[in-house]
Amino acid sequence: VNPPLYDDAELYDLVHADYRDDLSFYRRLAADHGGPILELGAGSGRLTELLAVDGYQLTAVEPSAAMRRAGEARLAKGGLSGRVTWIDGDMRTLDLGARFPLIVAPFNTLMHLDTLDDQDAALERVEAHLEAGGLFACDVYAPRFTAGTSVHHATLRLEAGEAAQLTSYTEHDPLRQRTTVHHQLDLLASDGTLRRRSATLQQRSYHRFELERLLRSAGLGALRSFGDFQRGPIHEGSRVWVMLAGRRR
Ligand SMILES: C[S@@+](CC[C@H](N)C(=O)[O-])C[C@H]1O[C@@H](n2cnc3c(N)ncnc32)[C@H](O)[C@@H]1O
Repeated sequence: VNPPLYDDAELYDLVHADYRDDLSFYRRLAADHGGPILELGAGSGRLTELLAVDGYQLTAVEPSAAMRRAGEARLAKGGLSGRVTWIDGDMRTLDLGARFPLIVAPFNTLMHLDTLDDQDAALERVEAHLEAGGLFACDVYAPRFTAGTSVHHATLRLEAGEAAQLTSYTEHDPLRQRTTVHHQLDLLASDGTLRRRSATLQQRSYHRFELERLLRSAGLGALRSFGDFQRGPIHEGSRVWVMLAGRRR
């Protein structure tokens, strides 16, 4: 059995080193809405760092100690530690006693809410931390509607003299709305040693109107749903769903 991906922040960063699709979208939102920003599931600080570079104060909630440590180290390296307060917290039970003009749950954070109770609890917490006139933004992978396994290969760019091949096997279970990704990274070091690192990630997928209903039920309104990070409409080929919501009450 592979260890969970979030126990190995270095592997997480290698696997997602080329993923930048969402960055300008969230930076633009911050420019439009201002900070301070509450980030749910901040991970190893992939987006946190850029928002800190842009000058915002952030509260970064992240339950995985390994991911949080990597995030803290990333921000420290950039001399940006003063801009980010890291919280060892859970979006289902968060109670900061503060409200924010912008709350973000980027790159599938909501896909870690497995049950209806988890989902209601987390979105209720979002509403409780959102300022009047504030905005909540999230994105999740669009679900696959057929069962099966897909395989993705990538060659990763590393330091000179090193090479890495990533293979990711994703099992799709559309009935349970669950995907399980097994990442396998083969890393050839400059001394000729070949090492394999593996990790598994489980995600709960959403159907579009299910997610919209969830946001509405938590008291959020003025929903806008997009099929990409350029704010285009949802279509059959959309790989992500991006949603924005404000407070209704
Ligand atoms: C796919 S990662 C995204 C990380 C980061 N936002 C990024 O864009 O790279 C999802 C993150 O959500 C975190 N997470 C899982 N369950 C959570 C919960 N209940 N509350 C807050 N964060 C959670 C995971 O530990 C993980 O770091």
